[in-house]
Amino acid sequence: MSTARNIIQQTPGILASDGDGVRLTRIVGSPDVNMVDPFLLLDAFESDRPDDYIGGFPSHPHRGFETVTYLLEGRMRHKDSAGHEGVIEPGGVQWMTAGRGVVHSEMPEQENGLLSGFQLWVNLPADQKMSEPAYQEFPSSEIPVETLKSGGTIKVIAGTTDLGTEGPVQIKATQPLYFDVQLNAGETFQQAIPETHGGFVYVLKGSIDLGVELRAGTLGVLGDGDRVEGKASDQGARFLLLAGRRLNEPVARGGPFVMNTKQEIQQAFDDYKNGRF
Ligand code: CO
Repeated sequence: MSTARNIIQQTPGILASDGDGVRLTRIVGSPDVNMVDPFLLLDAFESDRPDDYIGGFPSHPHRGFETVTYLLEGRMRHKDSAGHEGVIEPGGVQWMTAGRGVVHSEMPEQENGLLSGFQLWVNLPADQKMSEPAYQEFPSSEIPVETLKSGGTIKVIAGTTDLGTEGPVQIKATQPLYFDVQLNAGETFQQAIPETHGGFVYVLKGSIDLGVELRAGTLGVLGDGDRVEGKASDQGARFLLLAGRRLNEPVARGGPFVMNTKQEIQQAFDDYKNGRF
């Protein structure tokens, strides 16, 4: 039997600051919604005031999970200890598997104008936390956009739509689905999501009825089921739909490190301090 997933929790996130004073909204990873297994964090940043973002995210380490940057507006330059460097442009995605460790920076490649996007952290299972770092990076032009019969669109960063459009990002551990969906007024939407997956919807514009109405600026955590179905309001809707295979493992957080135990966090700090990244 097929079951549509309900929204079991909602949050607007909390205002926060990270990096060198970048103002953002912490949507997942806050006291409200600490995590949605396998997702550890979702930050949204959007500002046309350089003071809110110009400090960027100077050099910092990560270990034990993946960081995903999806840029909507503006340009960000990333650089890291493994020798990777590049600029993420509007609509582009960088999916970095930090694994055993990288030190990277993400800095705005602009001095004014609008900068907006999302930073997501995806957990890795215990046996992959110390894997070699890896990157998957795609400009907007390499990310497929499916047009629905009813006129809406799905930008498919990861995962496969019900109509078979496949995103370029492939992650074995969590089999994630990362869609940016735009629906016209009153348009319906349906997508299968394996029961093994946890996930959420974050509404950017308009609102969508998923059993309850989710409005712009709201995250809705998905309950159990094997699909999502909803209907856009008269203003239409734009939302992110994310899901990934639940790891069901203990989570130990320590700043930029996410491991399974406190001892492993301590080891990460020691390794970083002693230049073993
Ligand atoms: Co980072």
